[in-house]
Amino acid sequence: MKKIIFLYSLLLGSLFANENQLLFYGNCIACHGELGKKVAPHMSEVKGYYLMAYPKKEDFVAHMAQWLSTPNEKTAQHKEAIQKYKLMPYLAIDLDTLTKIARYIYENDDFGVLTL
Ligand code: HEC
Repeated sequence: MKKIIFLYSLLLGSLFANENQLLFYGNCIACHGELGKKVAPHMSEVKGYYLMAYPKKEDFVAHMAQWLSTPNEKTAQHKEAIQKYKLMPYLAIDLDTLTKIARYIYENDDFGVLTL
């Protein structure tokens, strides 16, 4: 069993550049991965709003992770998106993991559907 898990993580390790990317793809891409999708804005659009408000990495990451742990209209950066799509559902992901995901979003611009 251990061997299988090890091989599996090796495989995932080669498909995904790092854990943060895997977490992003696993949890966010279904809603945020396509342009012109009807369920949510593309992640590059959301990132733009956060960059305007928080250009510094540590502020960006902290505020995004915090918002994701309690999605609400009051502290949202992209309020029009809430009118358009309705408030994002609470995902029940811990703050640590959300911080890793927010870091991935700050550091990368790869939010498309993964092609293998
Ligand atoms: C079930 C669909 C769904 C999933 C899954 C989802 N989102 Fe969202 N998200 C939305 C919708 C809809 C909006 C736009 C409305 C809003 O801002 O609440 C949104 C908005 C956002 C915003 C903008 C918040 C703001 O301040 O305006 C961020 C940041 C975000 N999502 C990040 C993520 C991340 C990171 C993940 C993965 C951990 C994720 N979302 C997963 C549907 C989703």
